[in-house]
Amino acid sequence: MSDLHHLLTFPTRPIISDVYETQLAHLLKSGIPSTYTLEQVAAFEQGKEDEEENDSEGSNTTPLHILARSLPKDATKEELDVVLNMMNTLFEYGAGWNFLDYENKSIGDLLLEAGQNRNSPLYQRVVEAGVSAELLLRKVNGGDVEFLDDLDEVEIEDEQEEQTKLTDDTKIPVDNNINNSEVHIDSDLTASDPNTYLNTKLEYTDDKLITKDNKDGVMMDWEDGIMKLAADTLFPDPQNSNTATVLNIGFGMGIIDSYIQEKNPAHHYICEAHPDVLSKMRKDGWYEKSNVTVLEGKWQDTLNKLLDDGTVFFDGIYYDTFSEHYEDMLDLYDVMVGLIKPEGVFSFFNGLGADRPICYDVYKRIVEMDVNNYGMKCEYTTVQIGKQLPDWSDVKRSYYNCDYYYHPRISFM
Ligand SMILES: C[S@@+](CC[C@H](N)C(=O)[O-])C[C@H]1O[C@@H](n2cnc3c(N)ncnc32)[C@H](O)[C@@H]1O
Repeated sequence: MSDLHHLLTFPTRPIISDVYETQLAHLLKSGIPSTYTLEQVAAFEQGKEDEEENDSEGSNTTPLHILARSLPKDATKEELDVVLNMMNTLFEYGAGWNFLDYENKSIGDLLLEAGQNRNSPLYQRVVEAGVSAELLLRKVNGGDVEFLDDLDEVEIEDEQEEQTKLTDDTKIPVDNNINNSEVHIDSDLTASDPNTYLNTKLEYTDDKLITKDNKDGVMMDWEDGIMKLAADTLFPDPQNSNTATVLNIGFGMGIIDSYIQEKNPAHHYICEAHPDVLSKMRKDGWYEKSNVTVLEGKWQDTLNKLLDDGTVFFDGIYYDTFSEHYEDMLDLYDVMVGLIKPEGVFSFFNGLGADRPICYDVYKRIVEMDVNNYGMKCEYTTVQIGKQLPDWSDVKRSYYNCDYYYHPRISFM
């Protein structure tokens, strides 16, 4: 174990600034990388440091993992302040926020296990690092790289880019058993590529909608409570729900649409792209309902037409599709702000980054920041859903791994 790693095991108590912050600064200044992993130490000791493949199979147990693993459960407020300063220093020296260690755990996972909660300063510091890294990555990808003057800096940015891949799928299965150093992005084509998905046969069972070939869960009835909550949100003036005009993007099992119908809105638009889902809607009589208008096709096509017509504006818009990414949601914001009334509400199924608490919290903040750019605020209600979650045995993989749900309500400020 290196001196840096040893220091972060907190071998002496109390954890005081004079010992820990001073020594950490000294080690980092002397050139030990803040990303130096246990796996690199092991490879070095085995003389394999130049080989790409080593026994660690891609895990990265970074100094921050060691710190989080070693955090004493009985640490005092003063000690935790020192630890926070140490984390600040490590991040300043380029430590990554979302590497996965030898047990496939992120720093966030380990802090929660060490008794910190999601609002604690240490956990929130990792969230902050995740948000900064995501914003930096966007800047780099957007071509705005003029601050990268020399090669060293470019390399640092490349490394940051590697670390900051979030699972940005709005509703795509996530793999629990990944043995990867990064947070996972699913590579299953049906689930992650909209065009492949729209050409895939679907199958309805009593409690779910799945893809026939892969058994990917497109929609499952464990989300019933979430859909009820969302339907309530879409009526900002609940006493007058019968005068409201609402839009739901993505019919799936029609759970939210049934809840919307219970409120008897004046107009209920449903946008749906998949032919099998449209057939089911036809069979179940959705086309015959007097207050329902079905917009057939992708929202990317049908909503722009509505926007151009300029005749319909919504009190509530809900978004819950399959196989789309956060990028698509960013595109939707542009359309949504043009279609929603000034007092209207936008909400969506929030599975963004829900494969890990830390990623879920990073996306929570990113959505807040992105809608702020449109003069909107995002308020979250946290709902415990541990009891509703299925065991996922009927579908290929889970698409939601947190036992709580951040329900978003987005409206103009
Ligand atoms: C998760 S389901 C929606 C479930 C729904 N909230 C409910 O309560 O049952 C997603 C739906 O979005 C549809 N969809 C996927 N991409 C779409 C797109 N670009 N435009 C419109 N609908 C889309 C899918 O075919 C699927 O029916």
